[in-house]
Amino acid sequence: MQSKPIGVFDSGLGGLTVVKELIKDLPNEDILFLGDTARVPYGTRSKEVVQKFSLEDANFLLSKNVKCIVIACNTSSALAGGLLKSKMEIPVFDVIAPATREAKRVSKTGNIGVIGTRGTIDSGAYKVLYSKNCPLFVPFIEEGEINSPALKILVKSYLSTLKGKIDTLIMGCTHYPIIENLIRNEVTKDVILVNPGKCVSKDVKNYLIKNNMLNGQNKNGDIKYFVTDLTERFVKVAEIFLEEKIKGKIYMVSINS
Ligand code: DGL
Repeated sequence: MQSKPIGVFDSGLGGLTVVKELIKDLPNEDILFLGDTARVPYGTRSKEVVQKFSLEDANFLLSKNVKCIVIACNTSSALAGGLLKSKMEIPVFDVIAPATREAKRVSKTGNIGVIGTRGTIDSGAYKVLYSKNCPLFVPFIEEGEINSPALKILVKSYLSTLKGKIDTLIMGCTHYPIIENLIRNEVTKDVILVNPGKCVSKDVKNYLIKNNMLNGQNKNGDIKYFVTDLTERFVKVAEIFLEEKIKGKIYMVSINS
């Protein structure tokens, strides 16, 4: 059990922001990442479709004999987290619960906000006072337009409804930590930004320690990347999220039933 990899899935490559945190917290663990790049985005889709896709993602990881599954995607966590937890026989971690817990812990006033995809925000899964969907952030970030004037205008416009009301903001989408600086500039200085990837990574680490499931190997873990579509831009986009060079093998797979 200890030597099995940790399975992580996302609708696309944004989930690599979560993989990055897992590598920092659990450097000896092997990680198997699945990005459903053929069907991204999930954030604009219905609950039924997100549940179907998420179940296929999780079943793929299960077939690779992982010891637990991390749902890196906020939209999947919001719309399919409960379903996957009830269906899988191994531990399943979503990003919503640990991020909400952390936001409640650090907020002094309880005035917590969340930003995310339409799917995540409309689901109401983040039970906090303020929310705002920011559907155009994902395409900008995937295009590498992370410092463009157009994105800056968009960040300002989306966050204007939250400004001055919150003391804590959950960046409830895999992609948003990449533009943390832009988000920071648009909220007042003392607002605490919560990164769900960091929160879930801490939870996974604590769980593995507590249940004696840590990989005892004395070397850096191995990472394998599985994607459902492999384009020429894979490495460029993946490295935006990982913020370092891709190490490990890349495989293209078919997972839909
Ligand atoms: N991974 C998704 C999330 O965290 C963002 C991209 C998408 O819409 O699929 O909500």
